[in-house]
Amino acid sequence: MRILSGVKSSGRPHIGNYFGAIRQFIDLQTKGEGYYFVADLHALDQIRDAETMRELTLGVALDYIALGLDPEHCMLYVQSHVPEVSQLQWIIGSVTPLGQMLRAHAYKDAQAKGREVDFGLFAYPLLMAADILNVRANVVPVGKDQKQHLELTRDIAVKFNMTYCPDFDPQTGEGGVLNLPDPMILEEVAVVPGTDGQKMGKSDGNTIPLFGTDKVVKKAIMGIVTDSTPIEEPKDPDACNVYAILKLFLDETGQAEVRGRYTAGGTGYGDFKKLLLEKFHERFDAARAKREELLQNLDYVHDVLAKGAKSARQTGGEVLADVQAACGIR
Ligand code: ADP
Ligand code: TRP
Repeated sequence: MRILSGVKSSGRPHIGNYFGAIRQFIDLQTKGEGYYFVADLHALDQIRDAETMRELTLGVALDYIALGLDPEHCMLYVQSHVPEVSQLQWIIGSVTPLGQMLRAHAYKDAQAKGREVDFGLFAYPLLMAADILNVRANVVPVGKDQKQHLELTRDIAVKFNMTYCPDFDPQTGEGGVLNLPDPMILEEVAVVPGTDGQKMGKSDGNTIPLFGTDKVVKKAIMGIVTDSTPIEEPKDPDACNVYAILKLFLDETGQAEVRGRYTAGGTGYGDFKKLLLEKFHERFDAARAKREELLQNLDYVHDVLAKGAKSARQTGGEVLADVQAACGIR
């Protein structure tokens, strides 16, 4: 099993990234060959300052290691350090129908929010497909918001194989040069809501950042939007943003107990927020301390990233050579 996934370095990772994606990376790292990268090229359309870009990119690498991705078990690298990905992007772009690109929600959502859309954002799913296809990953753990991108990746692989590989069988996926990947989405944490109740997202000002200072984390949690049901009245956990986040930290027994306190009345939202703050620190304080240590040892981190890029380039180079041969540019 070859597993691949990435996180964009467009901001500081938050608990949505952890529960929706990074936690699965960590669980999976011993179950197959893992390729985990920092998607800095994907962040270019949002980050327009060189120093910030460098800092955020290294930051995501630090976060990965601090949270438990072990360079002994998997490849950790920065996307832009593997130029084969960009070369493959052009080639697969040449077999991708415009109509399919026009259906992609990444640029449409940005447009709907009034953001100016550049070509990088429009081509975003194509680069993502290249990330995946370049190492022939077969399992891609991501949050639900990425499902459409993975469907597009499969479609592109099928189209390329159908066009250039006479032995390709679309039923079995055998006989092509590009592998058809499978998404892996944890349904129960499919979308983690932000402090405003919308999807938590790096650029939406509604995150609980994994590595923010104690003060920032507390402010974010205490600021979660709730309704104004008085303390003594029963509350509906399923209509509460605090509970939607809190339940991610609780096992079944814990969830039942907290649900009981909601429906019984007598506990205010502030108390549930305090409980969430406690659970946050219980879960993440070890990683937060480890990240501080890593910051004192950046040579080690750069070394890990260099090794990861070397392996990814090796695999990516082989796949690219097959692709180039298949379409006759080599
Ligand atoms: P963001 O949306 O915050 O910019 P990314 O796009 O870099 O984050 O996402 C990195 C990974 O985290 C992806 O697999 C994505 O599906 C997952 N993810 C991001 N936000 C959430 C969320 N609110 N809930 C669940 N998973 C999420
Ligand atoms: N697009 C992903 C996101 O926004 C990040 C990403 C880039 C990715 N390339 C990828 C995820 C390849 C999985 C596989 O979350």
